[in-house]
Amino acid sequence: MIHYAVEKRGQEIWLAERRYEPRFALKTESVFAQCNGYMGVRASHGLSVLDGRRGMFIAGFFNRAYEEESTELVNCPDVTEYLLKLDGEVVYPDRASILGYERRLNIQTGELFNKIRLKLDSGLELEVTDRRFASMEDQHLFVQKIIITPLNGTIQKGELVTGINGQQTNSGVSHFHKIDCRVYEKQFLHVTGYLPEDTLSVLMDCSYSNSGEDTKEFLLKRRGVFGRYTFHTTEGESWNYEKYVYIQKEEDRTELEFQKEKLEEYRRSGYESAFGKHHEKMRSIWKQAEIQIQGATLEEDAAIKFAQYHLIGMMPWHRSDCSIAAKGLTGEGYKGHVFWDTEIFINPFFLYTFPEEARNLLEFRYRGLDAARDKAEAYGYQGAMFPWEAAKTGKEETPLYAALNIHTGKANKVWSGIKEHHVTADIIYAIWQYYTMTGDEDFMQNCGYEMIFEAAAFWTSRARWDEARGCYVIEDTIGPDEYTEHIDNNAYTNYMARYCINLAVTLAEKLERNQPRLYQELCQKLNLQQYMKGWVDVADKIYLPVPDTNLIIPQDDTFLTKKRLTNIEKYKKSQIKQAVLLDYSRDEIVNMQVLKQADVVMLLNLFPHMFPEEVVKKNVLFYEERTIHDSSLSYCAHAQACASIGQIELAWEFFKRCLVIDLDENPNDSTDGIHAASLGGIWNCVVFGFAGINYEDGQLNISPKMPEHWKEMQCYIQVHGHEIQVRVSNQEVALKRGDGWEQPLPVRINGKVFILEDSLKVMI
Ligand code: BGC
Repeated sequence: MIHYAVEKRGQEIWLAERRYEPRFALKTESVFAQCNGYMGVRASHGLSVLDGRRGMFIAGFFNRAYEEESTELVNCPDVTEYLLKLDGEVVYPDRASILGYERRLNIQTGELFNKIRLKLDSGLELEVTDRRFASMEDQHLFVQKIIITPLNGTIQKGELVTGINGQQTNSGVSHFHKIDCRVYEKQFLHVTGYLPEDTLSVLMDCSYSNSGEDTKEFLLKRRGVFGRYTFHTTEGESWNYEKYVYIQKEEDRTELEFQKEKLEEYRRSGYESAFGKHHEKMRSIWKQAEIQIQGATLEEDAAIKFAQYHLIGMMPWHRSDCSIAAKGLTGEGYKGHVFWDTEIFINPFFLYTFPEEARNLLEFRYRGLDAARDKAEAYGYQGAMFPWEAAKTGKEETPLYAALNIHTGKANKVWSGIKEHHVTADIIYAIWQYYTMTGDEDFMQNCGYEMIFEAAAFWTSRARWDEARGCYVIEDTIGPDEYTEHIDNNAYTNYMARYCINLAVTLAEKLERNQPRLYQELCQKLNLQQYMKGWVDVADKIYLPVPDTNLIIPQDDTFLTKKRLTNIEKYKKSQIKQAVLLDYSRDEIVNMQVLKQADVVMLLNLFPHMFPEEVVKKNVLFYEERTIHDSSLSYCAHAQACASIGQIELAWEFFKRCLVIDLDENPNDSTDGIHAASLGGIWNCVVFGFAGINYEDGQLNISPKMPEHWKEMQCYIQVHGHEIQVRVSNQEVALKRGDGWEQPLPVRINGKVFILEDSLKVMI
């Protein structure tokens, strides 16, 4: 169930909180956040309230505050808060009586709208409206409009104090070693925050209704600069204040004069004009991204669009110097780090809809290739070993220790940064998906081949020849299921490793034949010939767990010998994530058949045709019984897998759960930010799972498996730089090509190949 009310106004959908709910403050701030890929601003109340945690995050703006802390996405100065004093009385929603309240997010435009009616101690009733958006047209721009209306009296002396507050910390850790505050031309407020390796400039301008008698003065506080604006107004008459904020990191930095001019321009043309331009840009993005589902309920439609809103907002558009964090730009969770979530769960939406952006995400990994080489070397491997958690560079950023055990004072070691290696194959998988779907040779020549070859070199050196078994093994690793650490031959990891090596072998041979110059260059740069000797051998002889007599693919060497967790249902139902760790130690968990999240099932999702249908079915059901879904990455994976085996009812059960991962009634979820991978997973379930669309080995496949009540689904996908309109139902598949196609395109529909010329309609 969606906790928020869903409202449709015209073509637009809003999520609404209709009661003042401090209990949900942290969650709603993440869920309703304004994000444009450059910045993410938590949807905190403008008026000072007791609950919540303000946050503004700028893509790629990281810092490590102290040696023993991890690098983290910096919580930047706040620009949203205002103090309101009316005839001597400060307005605090937590103290006043609340007469009316609504806070709404427009899912299509990302505009936040908050209206609150209060009764003060003085008896004055007033309405405060706060609207804001982070502009998609000018990604440095954040705009907020505040409207104050007395409802049953006048305001003789109103005071609004607002500005730029650099006292923000990341849960108490302060990043800026210096903050400069200035006022220019008695108009612009400016804060510059200095990190050792970057700076942030926040410039603010404002406009407001002014009668001439009202005053404005500026206040300098420690690490902040504010304006105090006085006003007066009669009953029913509103006082408006508009705030324009321009934010830039060092590398985007333009002349201050230019920024001032920009802000003046925005100020002169007003909120609606800036919003109009932003809206226009959002409209064009949605035109490409929108999925229309006939028969879907309003709630379903809203939740799918909500996922897309955040996917759009988390993408650092048109740049490759940063990537997408596990919480997007909505909170401090996971310190803003980038995981396999990006390549496996989030990238597909961009690949199918905005392929240039998928390329940017992969280029980000290329920028980190040298650091990945260093990591491999440090661990005694060859090639490149990508970090489990990345921040701005390709360096490993996973913290070495988790929180202290408060009783023993000892810290638990985090093994993922050391042992969770599959990310080095996940990135390669995403590269190959990208290439086969776009045919982007330029990317391959400049980045792709090198990454694939370096990953193959890593995996070859990572595998060890096991004389007794007569095969190569990958020992002491962690697969996607993080409840089983230090295991040997994790199925997901071994299959993915072989995939990388095979791909490298095929590509090296092809390059030698077709592009000998490039091949020679790569040989010299990467010492390819020396590496390649081992590739074929390892690819041929790597141990791959095969289905046993019950058709079950063993998750690792010992998984099937372990005992089951008898009361798993208790933990599956628990509202508390990872509650099982409160009852069992990590060591006990490692020795049980219990999964945190999809593991073998992920493998089946990535390679839907690798095993016979019967095997896929058996494994999806077998592993689900043993999975607690303690990671938000799990429901979407299971929904997609169940859809692909035609278990639509089961798929729907999981899909419903992942649809509300950020929207459900649990106030403790999403407090540190939205679940980016799961939101990507929602798109994957809809497009890969239910519509059954996938592009594999140069072939578009479509096998719809839609839930009964979804009558038809329509979306646009991009194949080789061209658009295809796809309409599917359980009875029919209809395709229409955009302009500019030269070649007919073979499409496999429910296993049968058809040729798409201009359009194609197939009854199924
Ligand atoms: C999951 C990982 C995931 C990470 C970030 C962990 O809880 O186990 O698979 O990459 O969260 O979302």
